[in-house]
Amino acid sequence: MSDIAPAGSSPGLVNTQDEELILVMDFGSQTAQLITRRVREQNVFCQLVRHDLPASRIRELNPKGLILSGGPASVYGDGAPQPDPEIFKLGIPILGICYGMQLVCRSQGSAITPGESREFGRTTLRSHDLDALFQGIPVESTVWMSHGDQVNNLSEYFVSLAETETCPHAAVRQKDAAIYGLQFHPEVTHTEFGGRLLANFVTQVCGCHGTWRISSLIERESQIIRERVGSDRVICGLSGGVDSSVTAALLYQAIGDQLSCIFVDNGLLRKDEREEVRREFGDHFKTDLHIVDAEKQFLDALAGVTDPQKKRKIIGKVFIDVFRAEAKSIQDAHFLAQGTLYPDVIESGANVDGPAATIKSHHNVGGLPEELGFELIEPLRDLFKDEVRRMGVELGLPDKLVWRHPFPGPGLAVRCLGEITAERLETLREADAIVIEELRKANLYRTVQQAFAVLLPIQSVGVMGDARTYEDTIAIRAVQTDDFMTADWYPLPHEVLGRMSTRIINSIRGVNRVVYDVSSKPPSTIEWE
Ligand code: XMP
Repeated sequence: MSDIAPAGSSPGLVNTQDEELILVMDFGSQTAQLITRRVREQNVFCQLVRHDLPASRIRELNPKGLILSGGPASVYGDGAPQPDPEIFKLGIPILGICYGMQLVCRSQGSAITPGESREFGRTTLRSHDLDALFQGIPVESTVWMSHGDQVNNLSEYFVSLAETETCPHAAVRQKDAAIYGLQFHPEVTHTEFGGRLLANFVTQVCGCHGTWRISSLIERESQIIRERVGSDRVICGLSGGVDSSVTAALLYQAIGDQLSCIFVDNGLLRKDEREEVRREFGDHFKTDLHIVDAEKQFLDALAGVTDPQKKRKIIGKVFIDVFRAEAKSIQDAHFLAQGTLYPDVIESGANVDGPAATIKSHHNVGGLPEELGFELIEPLRDLFKDEVRRMGVELGLPDKLVWRHPFPGPGLAVRCLGEITAERLETLREADAIVIEELRKANLYRTVQQAFAVLLPIQSVGVMGDARTYEDTIAIRAVQTDDFMTADWYPLPHEVLGRMSTRIINSIRGVNRVVYDVSSKPPSTIEWE
């Protein structure tokens, strides 16, 4: 049985580097992985593990602290996930969050009362004890609650550290041990001093020094990959984006020339993308790089198609066919590496419904189908985007690639509204390159999270010299967003828009009008299709 919580891809935990380790036991909270990331922000290695990891195994792993995550269950519910009761006797500091707090309190005889209604949202916390956990945190601060049950009758073994209006024991500590419970969620940004509180737990309570670096993670993942792969070959699908590039660079570091990369040129790429991939993974990292020129196959299949969902379906299908054919030509490859990140796992619904359901393994998160017959390697599956970027920098990938805006799998096809032809794609590609170049020149590329050009399926009247023209329209889109689920249109300075427009109209034949998209998501989406 793997130690890792089901969302993890690695075969098991290895604490070979004798580094400070905090384990988060997964009771099914959607924010469990976020806790691990908050701890890693303190430069302490942290990993999510099964909720029922035996105490004996935990002792072997020698963590500095344990965090019991929240979860959707009630501690009294049928089949409510329980930890090994021995964990409370290990002498390792424990922090229980929400459901985890109820487990902590119940372990020492406190009564848990079902909440009359679920409490959900921001509330004010008042601390009344100068415990190490609250060091540097004001007596009153805002916290985020999301719970049904709560602890009303605290047993004699605990002291209450803080309260909210409806929750008399919003933070507690066991009197004779470094065992804590929090009814609120310190891991979410809505909790004002949540980061500080977790930092206090990790450093003050668990005594960690914060010596872990992203390079240790690279070493750890490389070792896991090497052990898993042996002398086999691994195929990595490259898309030109950050996630697959970091995956490939990590694999190259781990297994060198046992790595083969496949990059499918579908004819729907951004300007120079193919050459950049060749430079990075053929010249810089000397991987066995297979660039498949499949433009014709894609464009033939897309001919005459204007419906966005049909475009996506066709592109997905042709991609699998092309990839499969190329992969077949690579001998002895049993593994396929994919750059799935943790947010992809969440969004795909693969890990949303608690420990019981996550036993199912949801490997195929929007990638290639399992029928390809490869074992999947997803070394970034527990990480968040900013951690992946840090890893990319550490692995020696150029800044330009590491900070590249996301680009949809169907590429320019969903930005070329209406019919897709090689000519229309070329118009769009050139316009997009100008938009990005001007954005970089204005030092705004990293201010917005995504920007691009869209070719509209309408033509409008213009004049050129003495003649009337009837030509294409380019729309410019630039948005600011934290998570791409919502987004605000970004007010690009007029002179930047002006330069983009002048260059596009002057240098791209067949375009006589440029418009700027001033809509936010929702109700619009970031892409136009
Ligand atoms: P929307 O348009 O839904 O986009 O607001 C949110 C984010 O998802 C990207 N996107 C896609 N990515 N395949 C992808 O791989 C797609 O079909 C797709 N559609 C949208 C979009 O670029 C943005 O970052």
